[in-house]
Amino acid sequence: MEQSQLVTLLNEMSLEEKIGQMLQVTGMFFEEEGIVTGPENIAGYTEDEIRQAGSMLGTVGAERLKKIQKEYMEKQPHHIPLIFMSDIINGFRTIFPIPLAQGCSFHPELVEEGAAIAAKESAAAGLHLTFSPMADLVRDARWGRVMESTGEDPFLNGCLAKAMVKGYQGTDGLKAKGKIAACIKHFAGYGAPTAGRDYHTVELSQRTLQDDYLPAYKEAVDAGAAMVMTSFNTLDRIPSSGNRKLMREILRKEMGFNGVVISDWAAIEELVCHGVAKDQKEAAKLALEAGVDIDMMTSCYCKSLKELVEAGAVSELLIDEAVLRILNLKNELGLFENPYKDGDVSDENALILCREHREAARRMAAETFVLLKNDKMLPLAKKEKVAFIGPYVLSRETYGAWSMFGTCEATVSLEDGVRKKGALEIFTAKGCDLPEDIRETGAREELLQEAVALAGKADKVVLALGEHRMWSGEAASRGEITLPDCQMELFRQVQAVNPNVAVVLYCGRPLDIREISEKSAAVLVVWMPGTEGGNAVADVLYGDTNPSGKLSMSFPYCVGQAPVFYGQLCTGRPFQEGSQEKYVSRYIDIPNKPLYPFGYGLSYTEFTVSPVELSGKQMSKGEQIKASVMVKNTGTRKGQEVVQMYLGDVCGSVARPRRELKGFRKVCLEPGEEREVCFEIREEMLRFHDINMDYVSETGEFKVWIGNSSDTENEAAFLLIE
Ligand code: NOJ
Repeated sequence: MEQSQLVTLLNEMSLEEKIGQMLQVTGMFFEEEGIVTGPENIAGYTEDEIRQAGSMLGTVGAERLKKIQKEYMEKQPHHIPLIFMSDIINGFRTIFPIPLAQGCSFHPELVEEGAAIAAKESAAAGLHLTFSPMADLVRDARWGRVMESTGEDPFLNGCLAKAMVKGYQGTDGLKAKGKIAACIKHFAGYGAPTAGRDYHTVELSQRTLQDDYLPAYKEAVDAGAAMVMTSFNTLDRIPSSGNRKLMREILRKEMGFNGVVISDWAAIEELVCHGVAKDQKEAAKLALEAGVDIDMMTSCYCKSLKELVEAGAVSELLIDEAVLRILNLKNELGLFENPYKDGDVSDENALILCREHREAARRMAAETFVLLKNDKMLPLAKKEKVAFIGPYVLSRETYGAWSMFGTCEATVSLEDGVRKKGALEIFTAKGCDLPEDIRETGAREELLQEAVALAGKADKVVLALGEHRMWSGEAASRGEITLPDCQMELFRQVQAVNPNVAVVLYCGRPLDIREISEKSAAVLVVWMPGTEGGNAVADVLYGDTNPSGKLSMSFPYCVGQAPVFYGQLCTGRPFQEGSQEKYVSRYIDIPNKPLYPFGYGLSYTEFTVSPVELSGKQMSKGEQIKASVMVKNTGTRKGQEVVQMYLGDVCGSVARPRRELKGFRKVCLEPGEEREVCFEIREEMLRFHDINMDYVSETGEFKVWIGNSSDTENEAAFLLIE
């Protein structure tokens, strides 16, 4: 449709119809039984309100959605199609590793490929839009939703959020086959809830917000994402869904976003709980004025906007503006011509969980695993007698909390994976249960004893431990970030009879693994690896794939350090690890350093990185410096290394992070092979919000580090001059 036709359509629509476009309801309301108006209908929608809703979330399936679309459009005065949205976070039916794990791949092309596959499968199942990427920066491991982010670093998050948008939306417009629209969330700062408790208050300084938290959303906006979702939290004590400055000034004006803004689930009504609106009506007014176009799952808009307009309390122009954006999105998706878009049962059957998609999931999973420790333990040899012990040997619930359409039936367990490797002798035992309910212990003496007996007979033990997948994700914050007691008991008893223990850790967040890290011979973090997890873990354990993941989020020493991240400021009393000085910024009982920092991860081979070479010792604002190192595989296996460049501003008008990631490259080297890795340093990379909140660089000395972890000491320096 032409833009002018959209405007004509808008002008023909009644006020009720327009307000309808601004409501999103769940697919539950369109189930076979007809419109639900009973107690399940918490928001108290009338049949008419539901009939007029402009979009729907959470239901999938080409046939089902076609039927809903057809019936719905017939009853609509202007036959405007619904948009079907859903949370396709790390894959649709072929589940990829959780986003936090994808961060550890440091591999934007792979992340893009994963998103493109998710788009293909979900488009075939009739979907038009996914609520992804989540570009929230995360630094507190207590928060359950760290699993949905790609980690603690603004630059890495930006690269990967952009890659996801590209993967979902492609580059040929949203109408293109197999593409779906992307929705950036949760705007803004949702990743920094106080004390890691979900939905809690966020306190961020203007500078931290601008320099650390906003850049990833901005990258995704620049990549052309069609939608933005508001966050549940307050920022500067203003809840996002009623935050006019955030939505209209920062998002729309400064970042240049001109797509649709949707509230998070019930977030408009929650303005009342936040205490900034006295009732639904006031909440509706605040949200509309803030620039929120779609009300997800409350009746604030549908029950109040008409009255507000008729009373002259809000301008109908605001409604027109929102509805035009919504119609535009429908038009960009091509829904006026083809309301079903790519929904097609035969495509669905052909694409979902097809071999190609499974292979991609397996490849990606292996690249997200992080080898934290390896005392000559891994890889396993096929002639070794290995006992695979632990609840994750058999569990297929390895697809993460947000994989709404993932199933155990489709998932490869660790046992499935290792059995295919053709090892001579392997034994398996569960050791303990893995209850979803965190209050249950999971301990059973007979399971424990069986496991210990097996461990005693084996050459080596692989202990597959971890959190249940529902212990992370939304509304799954934890005050302790340890493994369940029964798993620690299993670990201790197994380790006592056989010290050759490799722990394979399944988790949705960094955990406190001090004891495990100290006492086991190897630790491999596999996060929630998805559908092909079992195959990918077996590939890495048996050395068919060399691990190459690097932590996208620091593993704290213990929960008391949270939030801990590499990019902290220096403080006025910096602490040198190991020093006994008292009046410095430190803990008296634990180290300042995390157990494993951002960017860290081992390989089965070794790499050396030569001292940093700079093409010049100073640069003026229009110039560039080339920073390079030689990276060499000095071990005996082919492997990939993530070469990371960090920059640090020695002295600025405001305190600066000690270092910031500004470039990375994943290189694959044969044994003995050496390659030059170059990074460009440009003035824009040195900008930040200065003492006047201007986004500028400041002349002076800068440090450059290039290495294979955020704590690399491989350092050089240069000057930025006028
Ligand atoms: C609430 C979550 O915060 C958000 O991430 C999600 O997209 C919506 N629910 C819709 O399911």
